[in-house]
Amino acid sequence: MTDRMRPRRSNLAVPGSSTKMLEKAKGLQADQIFMDIEDAVAPLAKPDARKNIVAALNEGGYEDKIRTVRVNDWTTQWTYADVVEVVGGAGANLDCIMLPKAQTADQVVALDLLMTQVEKSNGLEVGRIGIEVQIENALGLINIDAIAAASPRVEAIIFGPADFMASINMKSLVVGEQPPGYDVGDAYHYILMRILMAARAYDKQAIDGPYLAIKDVEGYRRVAGRSAALGFDGKWVLHPGQLDAANEVFSPRQDDYDQAELILDAYDYATSAAGGAKGAVMLGDEMIDEASRKMALVVVAKGRAAGMARTKAFTAPASSDAATSAPAPAGA
Ligand code: GLV
Ligand code: MG
Repeated sequence: MTDRMRPRRSNLAVPGSSTKMLEKAKGLQADQIFMDIEDAVAPLAKPDARKNIVAALNEGGYEDKIRTVRVNDWTTQWTYADVVEVVGGAGANLDCIMLPKAQTADQVVALDLLMTQVEKSNGLEVGRIGIEVQIENALGLINIDAIAAASPRVEAIIFGPADFMASINMKSLVVGEQPPGYDVGDAYHYILMRILMAARAYDKQAIDGPYLAIKDVEGYRRVAGRSAALGFDGKWVLHPGQLDAANEVFSPRQDDYDQAELILDAYDYATSAAGGAKGAVMLGDEMIDEASRKMALVVVAKGRAAGMARTKAFTAPASSDAATSAPAPAGA
């Protein structure tokens, strides 16, 4: 079965019009690549972009990444042909279709129906290819719950800051400029949290969009750190220079990962008969209970998905009256 929650820490954007960039992307350490036929491709170049993308996907070399194609939104004349050509031509080598400027649940349903038909007529497995939706305007944000629930194919909800700011008349905050007396973080907070709530309510991933000042890697790290702290799963990468920051910021730190693994072991032991069937115990200086286990599960899932290895092993205390013991080094 398709793992719709596969890691998406870094989401590399590549214009479908550039065969050079499509080729170069193969060697980059991104969790996901999305090949674009939408806003990074000029109208006159869209027919060729579709062809380049089909050829690149079928030629292969992206198998270690989630392979996504961003089609044009439903208000244009291009969406159906994008889907027919890309899913029809390379559906076996494609993981997701990204729908930009999603505004209503109907638009997601329409895409699902079209994908289903193209899958059937090309002998592809129906429903395997997922959908990622971009929330890029007020109507999309207002309808976000219905959009998230519109199709079992939906895997991720993505913030599109550039289009969003334009659509609500917010002044040029997208490149991280800060007008005097104004905190950009506040400006985005409601939108990010709204996206995150819908994602968590419907078991989808929450992905932050682009940071346009591609030379400002520290700025990227700061903005990515903000969405990671809220609970987002990943962020777009417009330039290879942003990749390491994305992979790092959206993975747990080693200490946090080790601690989370210890909490799971210690709590498992504490609640067992051997551990005295306790529901709240001390682990080092920290009181842990069932809620701690739930928080630890989130960190552990992210760390394991990122291929992290723990460096501390849990050892049960000699007596069940004692608090859980201090961690021993792994392998001890
Ligand atoms: C991305 O598509 C954006 O509009 O920010
Ligand atoms: Mg956009």
